[in-house]
Amino acid sequence: MAVNEARLWDSLMEMAKIGATEKGGVCRIALTDLDREGRDLFVKWCKDAGCTISVDQMGNIFARRPGKNNDLPPVMTGSHLDSQPTGGKFDGVYGVLAGLEVVRTLNDFGIETDAPVEVAVWTNEEGSRFAPAMVASGVFAGVFDLDYGLSRADLDGKTMGEELKRIGYAGDLPVGGRPIGAYFEAHIEQGPILEAETKTIGVVTHAQGQRWYEVNVIGQDAHAGPTPMERRKDALVGAARMVGEVNRIGLAHKPFGRATVGLLNPIPNSRNVIPGKVFFTIDFRNPNEDALTAMDAEMRASLAKIAEEQGLEIEITQIWHSPVVTFHEKCVGAVRNATQRLGFSNMEIVSGAGHDACYINRVAPTGMIFIPCEDGISHNEIENAAPADCAAGCNVLLHAMVEAATA
Ligand code: GLV
Ligand code: MN
Ligand code: MN
Ligand code: MN
Repeated sequence: MAVNEARLWDSLMEMAKIGATEKGGVCRIALTDLDREGRDLFVKWCKDAGCTISVDQMGNIFARRPGKNNDLPPVMTGSHLDSQPTGGKFDGVYGVLAGLEVVRTLNDFGIETDAPVEVAVWTNEEGSRFAPAMVASGVFAGVFDLDYGLSRADLDGKTMGEELKRIGYAGDLPVGGRPIGAYFEAHIEQGPILEAETKTIGVVTHAQGQRWYEVNVIGQDAHAGPTPMERRKDALVGAARMVGEVNRIGLAHKPFGRATVGLLNPIPNSRNVIPGKVFFTIDFRNPNEDALTAMDAEMRASLAKIAEEQGLEIEITQIWHSPVVTFHEKCVGAVRNATQRLGFSNMEIVSGAGHDACYINRVAPTGMIFIPCEDGISHNEIENAAPADCAAGCNVLLHAMVEAATA
């Protein structure tokens, strides 16, 4: 039994038309009209494959293929359809459509699993428009409460609750609180390791921890002409030093530390006004929780020192902490077994990115399957993966799920 490589690839390319960018990528930001279009297409495909659809109050979609014993907890797979503003055709979508391809393949071969199979689309995995990332799988796993999830707002003040209603995906199913037999998520690696090691499958054992911050640096707006240099409280000059410091902390924690300032807004952002305020974000990651805690302490001390030297005020708010994840031995084993049975080259790997699987792991045995992506590039419109690798990861998913869904 094997998946249909061409059908999986065609579905990926069809979905990539929704929000397609000129450079060959995808811009399908969470809870926009394009996100709705992507969801609608997924729902249509799943209904055509004989699945029933339910949507929960966080807009998570579940497509269910019944089993022989529907009292058994489902074996679930899935990922996300939302993208970064300059995203690619595979991040998230691959895991969703690999799940659909598993269902289609089970149909082709007339396989009736003991437990039902479900394919999930988790709302707002990216955390680009609404922070934090993985918020809806987080509510499902009981990490956040529903009000917290629905009240996450974008930079224009629109909340996830409002936007879910607007696009017609505010479902009525309670979020979570039901047993799941096992959860598997297939994803492109989003980094360079599998390609460099020429391995087809990454058996994911862990995911690194993350801490996200929002920083406000406060100085004073003033006229760019009359204000002498030594009298300025230029928040952007302070912020620039802080960005350098964040990067230095990442480098100081080589080879595992990661430190990124990805969003920075000088205010008022006018060419002849000295910036009186700067808002920026910090994304810290590390597969070692103690090292991540050390990065936090170093950052707080260095940024406070820079603020003092520059005569600025600073507010640092940690908005999210997703601790290091160890995936479930049973599911990691199922992925490893399926990979070996199918004869794919493979290696164990730690996920550098966050995934909905990181939260689902708290409420269900969970495992992940990585496939290589070209040059290790992701969160970029040029993100690419090979059709054969997409099919290989999907075949591993198929066999791991069938094993898990067999009583
Ligand atoms: C989300 O894609 C993340 O891992 O940052
Ligand atoms: Mn993703
Ligand atoms: Mn992503
Ligand atoms: Mn991600």
